Order: sequence, then structure tokens, then C-alpha cells
Amino acid sequence: MAKAHTVFLCLECGSTHERYMGRCPDCGTFNSLSEHKIKEDKPGRTAPRLSGEKSEAVPISEIEAREEDRIASGLGEVDRVLGGGLVPGSGILLSGEPGIGKSTLLLQLANSVSKTEDGKNRFLYVTGEESAVQVKLRADRLGVSAENLWLLSECDLEAIEQQVKATSPAVVGIDSIQTVRWDDLPAGAGGVVQVREVTSRLLAMARKEGFALVLVGHVTKDGTVAGPRTLEHMVDGVLQFEGERGHSLRILRGLKNRFGSTEEVGIFEMRSDGLSEVENPSGLLLSDRSVSSPGSATAAILEGTRPLLLEVQALVSAAAHGSPARKCSGIDSARLSMLAAVLEKRLGVPLGGCDIHANVVGGVKLRGTAGDLALAASLLSSFHDRPLPRDIVFAGEVGLLGEVRPVPGTGQRLEESSRLGFKTACVAPGSLEGSGPTGMKIHEIPELSQLARRFVE
Ligand code: TYD
Ligand code: MG
Repeated sequence: MAKAHTVFLCLECGSTHERYMGRCPDCGTFNSLSEHKIKEDKPGRTAPRLSGEKSEAVPISEIEAREEDRIASGLGEVDRVLGGGLVPGSGILLSGEPGIGKSTLLLQLANSVSKTEDGKNRFLYVTGEESAVQVKLRADRLGVSAENLWLLSECDLEAIEQQVKATSPAVVGIDSIQTVRWDDLPAGAGGVVQVREVTSRLLAMARKEGFALVLVGHVTKDGTVAGPRTLEHMVDGVLQFEGERGHSLRILRGLKNRFGSTEEVGIFEMRSDGLSEVENPSGLLLSDRSVSSPGSATAAILEGTRPLLLEVQALVSAAAHGSPARKCSGIDSARLSMLAAVLEKRLGVPLGGCDIHANVVGGVKLRGTAGDLALAASLLSSFHDRPLPRDIVFAGEVGLLGEVRPVPGTGQRLEESSRLGFKTACVAPGSLEGSGPTGMKIHEIPELSQLARRFVE
């Protein structure tokens, strides 16, 4: 009979301890430790090395690691974010809000991986959320037809492990990690403890067997729901799938990558026949741009290393009730308040008594500060009720004194703008090394007041 070993598991943070304590030393929660038995022949956290082998220190030069061992996913945008493909023996977390398209991406990834290398790379798609029939129906709709894509509808960890051994896949995808349960653990499926323990077992298995593991994990907007956030430090990479429901653009962002940079993003469009890679995201985003309406300005931003043009919209109106409202979507509300305060204090624009609504068109988020100048321009344009010229693009950061500062990669941003037909650019002085794209007029504005002047003249 297998020997049993007692451990005390914190139901709050998932840490394990050898003895009972009133307070968990890891997370500080009182009365959160619960006793349970783990059979010795079932490795888990208490047996960190699944293989049971002792490792030895070796000189780094003797360790073999080849770039070509990577498994090309076959989806250019995913490979770009991963830094060239999936690494055997590693674990990636694909996180995102429910309904954003994670299962669709995983299925398309499964299809393309199992078609690479003449179909030699088997992909085992484990579904805990949907039945195999549901996945097959979706696969048919997406035109997924790879021979070497195998499906398993299972939630039990041990059954999954057994099937992984039986099918020896190159990549295992699990949709989702929250549905997998390990019956030896007291906490229910989806809880922090289960999710962490299950992940740690699967990662150990991936390392030992040499397959790449892709775990799908649901996160809510604020990241509060148990699971994925606590896994980020365990896995080798975290890919976050972002977008807004109701909009078709999706961005795959590398938040963590042990085998590549986190600078790259992948851009997709969700269509009726699945996700398709987008070559010209700016064109897609600007396709239904409001024609010269007051409050609309175009920002040239960088997503990873790629330039992207976004339409920023603002609506400034007299405050309806007491304290003025500041509402935004896709824009950091603190940044909006700061810009409104700068416009009021430095330029005397009385925004303090106005309601301000601001958003980015297309469900994309304005990150960083390079969109400041466009946002300030849209606020001024709406306040004065005067539209900006349609062919002008903005790239610049605004400081608390109303000064405009250069942003990195301005040349690249303007090249993209010029390609899309923009004729004029507003940037900070010193943003460009050369003269900018041919045929484009560059306005260098050191102060917001110079931007404002065009509206009051
Ligand atoms: P899904 O991949 O199930 O999201 P998640 O796994 O992140 O919860 O996809 C969710 C949405 O995507 C669904 O509401 C419908 C839409 N969708 C399409 O628009 N086109 C498609 O081809 C597919 C498969 C889904
Ligand atoms: Mg899903």
C-alpha cells in the first residue's frame, strides 16, 4: 500500500507546510491551513522533482540548447509574440477575459501546430469547458482539419496525465486550467489551491516529457478571479489576449517571456470564420473614422515595436450636475484628469466646470503617454467645437507645465501615418533625427499653448 504523507495546505495562497500553524507564514491569513494526505507515489508540490532524479551542476557551455528546437506555431502573429515559437518543456499561460476568443485562438493554434513539420507535431487539445462534440463543431466552422490534432474532453488531472503519456504530443493545450481538478486536493476545481497545484504538476510533466504546454486561464478586468494571476510566476510565459467585446480587433500581448522579448504584440481580427492575422491594423481601426467632427484626433502610438494609428474622441460639455464627470474607455482616467488640469491651469481653458467623456475607437487601449498630445487636441477641439483637419496626426507626451516632449520611435510612427495618407504631423521639437517622411509637413510644438492657438485664432 502506498504510504501517506500529511501536509497542511493554505486555502488562501496555496502554500504547503509540514506542520499545522494558526497563521499561514506565507500570506499571513489566520486559520487557513487545512490538513490532508498525499500518497507518496503521487508526486506534487511535496515532491518537486517529478522524475526523482538528482541534478548536478554543470558548466553552462556544456548545456545544449538550440533555437531550432522551438516548435513554430504556424501562426505568424503568435510566433512573433513568443519570439519564434513554442519551447519544448515550457509552459505558457494564455489569459484573457471570458468570451474574448481564447478557445478560438487555442484551436487555431492547435490546427496550425499540427500542420507544421509535415504533421509530425501532435497537438493534444484538452477541453474541460466544452464537450469534444462542441469543439469539433467549432473546428468545422473554422475549417480546422489537421490530422494530428487530438481532442480530449476531460477535467481529471490524472486522466489527462495518462492520456498525455499515451499520445506523446509535441504540444498540450488545456482549456481551461480552472476546470482541471486533482481529486487528492481538498479544495474544489477553480480555487487558488487547485489551480496552483494542478499547474505545478502539469509544468513538471511538461519538463520531464518535453512537450510544450499552453494553459488557458480566465481573468476578469481587474484580475481578481482566482487563478491566472497566481500562476504568472510559475509559468515561462504569459500571453494576454485583449480586446473589447463588440469590437473585432484583438491584441495578443506578451506580459512575461522567459525565451524572448515582451516588446512584441500580435494583432488579430475576430471574424465569423475565426481569428485572422491583421497586416494593416491602423487601416482597420481608422476605416470608420468620424469625418472631421469636433473632438476627434488621430494618435500615432506604438504597440510593442509596431506603429498603430488610433482615433481618440473627446466630448466636452457643460457639467450637468454638481461635480463634473470624467468618463473614459480605453484611456487612463488619471491621465485624462491630468491633461484637463494642465489645459485649465496653463492655457486657461475652463474644463473644471465641464463633463468630459473620452474614448479610443476600436476597443484598443491608449497605453503610455505618447497619446497625450492627441488627447489634448481632441479636448481642445471639442471644447471649441472646431474640428481638426482630417489628415493630421499627433505623437507627443505632455508634461505638467504644458510642455510637449518627444516620444521614442517618432520616425516610425510618422512613416506609418504617411503610408495611410496623413499629410501633417504634430510632434515635440527634437522628435525626429531627419526630416520625416517625404511629403509630410511636420509641426514641432514645444508647448500646448501653440496647439491651442489654432483653435482661438
Ligand atoms: P471563445 O474563443 O469561446 O472565447 P473564450 O474562450 O475566450 O471565452 O470566443 C468567444 C467569442 O468569439 C464568441 O462570443 C463568438 C466569437 N467568435 C467569432 O466571432 N467568430 C468565430 O469564428 C468564433 C469561433 C467565435
Ligand atoms: Mg473558452
